Amino acid sequence: MTRPIKTCVLVSGNGSNLQALIDAHRAGKLNIEITHVISNVASANGLKRAAGAGIPTSILEHGKFANRDEFDRALALLMTSGEPDLVVLAGFMRIIGPRVLEPFAGKMINLHPSLLPLYKGTETYRRALDAGDRTHGSSIHFVTGELDGGPVISQVTIPILENDDPQSLAARLAPMEHRLVVATVGFMAEHRVECREGAVIIDGMRQERPLQLRDL
Ligand code: GRF
Repeated sequence: MTRPIKTCVLVSGNGSNLQALIDAHRAGKLNIEITHVISNVASANGLKRAAGAGIPTSILEHGKFANRDEFDRALALLMTSGEPDLVVLAGFMRIIGPRVLEPFAGKMINLHPSLLPLYKGTETYRRALDAGDRTHGSSIHFVTGELDGGPVISQVTIPILENDDPQSLAARLAPMEHRLVVATVGFMAEHRVECREGAVIIDGMRQERPLQLRDL
């Protein structure tokens, strides 16, 4: 087995996806080492989950910086210090700029609760329901300068039920998203996924469409 990939996870809130990674690693299902969890929100539950698992944590509150660029500079320094192989934005509710994007190009992935390219941004559940969609889902993509716009690696799709509201849809999607993040990070830990010239390459082959959880 190759060495575990050093993984840095950024969170702003609950951290249930971080927990899924911690649990999968503990169960011996994921060849990663979560070396650092960083949050821009001091009260984020994800920080407690990390501390509970003995993972070093850092808090970088964006409100304490003069501007976006200063925050990004500090964040990039903090992230670089651990020399991660992979950075996972797992509910990190902050737009990041070139100072962070450039050093981590092709090494940073984001979880987004929609079937990208549908519904970039927020309130994806309500927007899918308002549009009368029959399915919703979650995507994992490489992070680029375009919000929720980088090449999509993998997706999971679930049906929208007749009586769904945003809460019920989110509750049904969450466990599927946890499985998706574990499977996708697993692929990355096996060095099977690359981002090249704006495309996702898996096992050396350019992907025309995202991997589906059912195939992973
Ligand atoms: C997830 O739904 C993810 O897709 C989105 O934010 C949520 C984070 O949930 N970006 P958690 O903090 O991992 O519980």
